[in-house]
Amino acid sequence: MQAEQLSVAAGELSIVRPGASPKQALRAWDAADEYLIKLIEELTHQPELLIINDQFGALGCACNKALHIWQSDSFCAKEAFELNRKINEIEGEIPFLESTRAINADNKLALIKLPRNTSLLEYQLNRCHEMGIKEVWLAGMMKHLPKTILEQLQRFGTVERLPFIKKATVFKLQLTQAIPDSYPKQNTFSGVKLSSHANVFGRDKLDPGAQFFIDNMSALPKAQNVADLCCGSGILGIKYASNSPESNLHFFDESYMAIESTQASWKLNQLSNQKHFHWADGLPDSGTKFDLILCNPPFHESNTVGDHIAKRLFKQSRKALSANGQLIVVGNRHLKYHITLKTYFKNVKQIAANPKFVLLSANG
Ligand SMILES: C[S@@+](CC[C@H](N)C(=O)[O-])C[C@H]1O[C@@H](n2cnc3c(N)ncnc32)[C@H](O)[C@@H]1O
Repeated sequence: MQAEQLSVAAGELSIVRPGASPKQALRAWDAADEYLIKLIEELTHQPELLIINDQFGALGCACNKALHIWQSDSFCAKEAFELNRKINEIEGEIPFLESTRAINADNKLALIKLPRNTSLLEYQLNRCHEMGIKEVWLAGMMKHLPKTILEQLQRFGTVERLPFIKKATVFKLQLTQAIPDSYPKQNTFSGVKLSSHANVFGRDKLDPGAQFFIDNMSALPKAQNVADLCCGSGILGIKYASNSPESNLHFFDESYMAIESTQASWKLNQLSNQKHFHWADGLPDSGTKFDLILCNPPFHESNTVGDHIAKRLFKQSRKALSANGQLIVVGNRHLKYHITLKTYFKNVKQIAANPKFVLLSANG
């Protein structure tokens, strides 16, 4: 993991991007971060800042002196920020706020890195309004901006768009109103009741990969300790638990909203199994051994597509499986998980397949 130098008014910061594949050599910040940093540095009076969706903590490190609240849904982003603070000798705790919480932040300036997910953006602007924030600066790269971004922002107040610099732009929003909240939303998919927050995968419709997994769940063995790795709103683990009341379920996701949604979904389904919820990067080494790990892996990390996360999850799963334990993975055929899995496991078997998806088991 190579640190890169980010030039700010106060000097140079060394910033790393944990988790990136060495082949991809990706930077931990973009021109939209640089744009926001420059605008803040140009202000004669420094307002207190609420920073939202800072992906690896570059923005938080650069604006550290004015930082009042740092809010993110991502465990990995928080870990990266912690690491970058340490590297740059920034002392104290992160002024962290969970992504579903709102506290009084009257008179603060909010800086938002525009998320890909517009439901999340709406949710975050509603929370900013609830916190008493009047001004929000939103930054993003031209290639990632939704076509209707201006209209979307105008529903919350008056918007000024600044010129593009290095293909990045900033919208200055005078936040005067909220819009009706659409999330958390309740759905029933394949007999499982789900509550899903705004940033949760499959919040509006069941993912076809998850559907295929569920359609073939009866082929899985009965197991004691079961992990739903990358659980989203908990669909796979809850479905498994409803057919196996003796199993202990452990749910893992790096999205805070996913874990909170899974907890709410669990309650809706009134199951009596033992259950544990973990906001974590993948499957941390906790000493617990799993007899079964269910996984519908992510194939992108924010705007970066790739199988580097899946590879890490497979490696961690191999370590966390009990002697006869199995990892069960669903994936699009074109992702070729059967080949990737063979680099980590002795035995890889196809449990089911259709023209689009495969369900694989791996062990040994
Ligand atoms: C394809 S979705 C699967 C969600 C759900 N299990 C389903 O089948 O509908 C992948 C999930 O992986 C989570 N995720 C992404 N990176 C992760 C990481 N490093 N550690 C844990 N979870 C991660 C995402 O938040 C998302 O909920």
